[in-house]
Amino acid sequence: MATKVKKHMTGKVKPGDVTQRVGVEQLEARGVNVTELREKLIDAAGAEFTTYYYYTVLRMYLAGNEDYKEICEDARLEDRAHFELITPRIYELGGSLPTDIRDFADRASCADAYLPQNPTAAGILEILLEAERCAIRTWSEVCDLTFGKDPRTYDMASRILQEEVEHEAWFIELLSSIGPFPSWRAGRCSIQQKPWLL
Ligand SMILES: [Fe+2]
Ligand SMILES: [Fe+2]
Repeated sequence: MATKVKKHMTGKVKPGDVTQRVGVEQLEARGVNVTELREKLIDAAGAEFTTYYYYTVLRMYLAGNEDYKEICEDARLEDRAHFELITPRIYELGGSLPTDIRDFADRASCADAYLPQNPTAAGILEILLEAERCAIRTWSEVCDLTFGKDPRTYDMASRILQEEVEHEAWFIELLSSIGPFPSWRAGRCSIQQKPWLL
């Protein structure tokens, strides 16, 4: 008996061809620039990985401020999970991580979260806050690029974004309870200033 022809039985990628992916072809057919997307994902993965590293350092300088240290630890581990979540997706899209970790760190989409010269708890929390804000901008861009076209990457980016927004909220709450900070007074920080902190 002849096999019935089904709508999605065949496509551009020929049966048995392992050099191409239908998972990529379908994104291109929907207007996703896959090359641009995977490069952005590599940059974003670099930011997650370096942030995880720098948070490891920053956390050590929060010793004695155990509440802050614990929250820094939660953010640190979640950023590592973000790196691990997005990395297989890069390979699915035909990309790969740089073989040299120095190249990977250099192309991270966010600046290094260096320990401040004067590592006070407030100074460290400000570094953490700005790292989270960069992550929110990064993952929002990935959501914009994939919404309605690449449900798999969108789902991952959206889940990461939700945690980054949560991280920003944690550090705002902590900073708000410590204040005042010279940089807030100088208007360098975009947090709405609170009169009782000035
Ligand atoms: Fe993250
Ligand atoms: Fe984060």
